[in-house]
Amino acid sequence: MAAQVRHEHWSSRFAFLMAAIGSAVGLGNIWRFPFITGENGGGAFILIYLVTTALIALPILIAEVMLGRMGQQSPINAMRAVAQKAGRSKFWVIIGIGSTLGAFVVLSYYSVIGGWAIRYFLYAISGTFSGMDNAASKDLFDAFTADAGQVVLWHTVFIGINVGIVIWGLHAGIEKAVTILMPLLFILLVGMAVYSSTTPGFDKAVTFLFDFDFSRVTSITFLTAIGQGFFSVSVALGAMMTYGAYLDKNENIARAGIIIAIADTLVAILAGMVIFPLVFSYGLAAGSGPGLIFVTLPITLGKLGTGIELGAAFFLLLIVAAVTSAISLLEPVVSWAEESLGVKRKVSAAAMGAAAWFVGLGSAFSFNIWSDFHPLSGIHIFADKTIFDALDLTSTSLVMPTVGLLIALFAGWALSAETAAEALNVDPNAAWFRWWRFLIRYVAPLGVVSIFVANGLA
Ligand code: PHE
Repeated sequence: MAAQVRHEHWSSRFAFLMAAIGSAVGLGNIWRFPFITGENGGGAFILIYLVTTALIALPILIAEVMLGRMGQQSPINAMRAVAQKAGRSKFWVIIGIGSTLGAFVVLSYYSVIGGWAIRYFLYAISGTFSGMDNAASKDLFDAFTADAGQVVLWHTVFIGINVGIVIWGLHAGIEKAVTILMPLLFILLVGMAVYSSTTPGFDKAVTFLFDFDFSRVTSITFLTAIGQGFFSVSVALGAMMTYGAYLDKNENIARAGIIIAIADTLVAILAGMVIFPLVFSYGLAAGSGPGLIFVTLPITLGKLGTGIELGAAFFLLLIVAAVTSAISLLEPVVSWAEESLGVKRKVSAAAMGAAAWFVGLGSAFSFNIWSDFHPLSGIHIFADKTIFDALDLTSTSLVMPTVGLLIALFAGWALSAETAAEALNVDPNAAWFRWWRFLIRYVAPLGVVSIFVANGLA
């Protein structure tokens, strides 16, 4: 039954690239990248990030899209088909199962933060930030997140938007959304970066982001960079594999992978160039964690004459980035249900969205009624973790590296060079193909294993 569902294919290369870049560009770029860059040595971190992403995340991204195109199905069924065709063990289906479950779980809590972005967009346009000092901004954030009903409400709206897109399928849903939203995202981002460059904090922000401070570089910096690269280019959660399944035979996957990784990195750097000049213009500390964009940034916005427009633009940007990532997390699960449960897309999108919403309640409550509930407190690394923290830690530190490692091993070792070259549409003797194979066989697995070792030691 599984093999009978024939999915739509992308109507153009542009549509595929917008969807894939949309998946890559998300909360990871706009919220996380800027502050970890500042904390880890600025330009030195950016350099390390570029190198580790090019050597580890990018080859895995190429492999993942390739496996999707070979299988032409959602990750679970694609991996089953590809392993069978290559005469390999059924065990490799684990790549599909792990990434689909991972996508589902990440979607459930990503949506809670996506909901915050929507609420903050509304705060911004209603002028709530005006005249706020540090304490008032912190109070606003604390009061909002402490209100379970509010957090659930906006989580519901966020999931609703995603279901509302995915339910229409590839052409009328995902493609239509990304071809409108991604250009909007670039315009907003570039516009804001230009504005930020005219503010007094600009010079300080440039120093903070780009100054090479090797004294802040430790071995942890490398691991942070590898982990961030993984999450940021969207590998190992089935999103890119699913998008790869909708790709035509003649599309150049390696070139697409490079474009996606470069666009993703540029957006991350630009996001830093938007946020930090504003923050530094008022002498505020860079701050970290959710505090940077949900507490510190609003203070600045409230002081600027253009705060309402700028705040609205920023939180709209955040919503767009989060939605185009979240649909890529919902799609693997929805297409799997279509194939394996034999249900129509409308039913599958609504049911899977509802299920992710339900699981997401645990994360929504982690900031209020269940903030003291630490479900796995018996296990050392989960000791003081809420449901939200535990799900985030399990998916980004356990599921993603494991699946990433398995993808590298499968693509590099279980498939012959000829099979991989044919799947990538290249001559097996081409220099770049040999380079990719070297990275996927040796460098990427070692890089991923090092994240594990470090997490185990941490
Ligand atoms: N890349 C997205 C971000 O930066 C998150 C994501 C990871 C989305 C994996 C899909 C798959 O926020």
